[in-house]
Amino acid sequence: MAVLVLMGPPGAGKGTQAERLAAELEIPHLSTGDLLREHLARGTEVGERARSFMERGELVPDAVVLEMLRERATRPDCQEGFLLDGFPRTLEQARALEAELTRRAGERGPISLRAIELRVPDEVLVRRLAGRRTCRGCGRAQHLEFSPPRVPGRCDRCGGELYQRDDDRSEVVQERLAVYRRQTRPVERYYREREALVEIDGDRPPDEVFAALQRAARDKAA
Ligand code: AP5
Repeated sequence: MAVLVLMGPPGAGKGTQAERLAAELEIPHLSTGDLLREHLARGTEVGERARSFMERGELVPDAVVLEMLRERATRPDCQEGFLLDGFPRTLEQARALEAELTRRAGERGPISLRAIELRVPDEVLVRRLAGRRTCRGCGRAQHLEFSPPRVPGRCDRCGGELYQRDDDRSEVVQERLAVYRRQTRPVERYYREREALVEIDGDRPPDEVFAALQRAARDKAA
């Protein structure tokens, strides 16, 4: 069993790349941001507990995220591995993941974990988030400048309505970047110290980033 962790600050391209990489590797793509937005849209208790944190650009409490992800990661399609996008984001989440994988390894044998970090300068992140438009139908992100929709306001893939995420407003973006530096950089260090982190340059065209990710996922030089 193999678990991949895709890391990087808001706007680094995790969602864009994770969907493609998971399809290529034939493993499920588990995005805690997408799962939380689904809960919000459905008005579940998890969604209500998460709402105010997400609106402010803060992290949702660990207990809420861990319970939600545990439910998803124990479904049958995750038996052979999965790709995590946006998790873990705190040391507590990283330790909880390690404990869960140790428990599973005791039942089923060795599990490899590799974390891959997309590195992108802050000024590029801000431009990406300001221009991002997300599909209400399929959740895919496009960009007004870098991947403009063929029909204005409509998703190229499913034709759904494109909208701007509330947390992509500039004041919230600054808070999300600060939260990443404060709470998630320590998780990068955690994996680096365990020699489980591969860093790749995410500030290049999507196809080049994808090729580097494929190499990193297969343990070759990225
Ligand atoms: P989440 O949804 O995870 O947001 P994020 O990590 O801030 O990441 P983004 O979705 O903003 O960016 P991305 O890296 O996926 O970039 P994308 O591919 O879209 O989390 C949202 C909130 O949920 C958090 O703030 C928190 O409240 C909560 N949350 C989630 N997980 C949590 C957890 N584990 N614990 C606690 N709370 C949690 O790309 C961005 C744009 O750039 C797009 O328009 C795209 O088209 C474009 N683009 C992508 N790649 C390129 C490229 N190479 N060149 C040019 N443009 C590109």
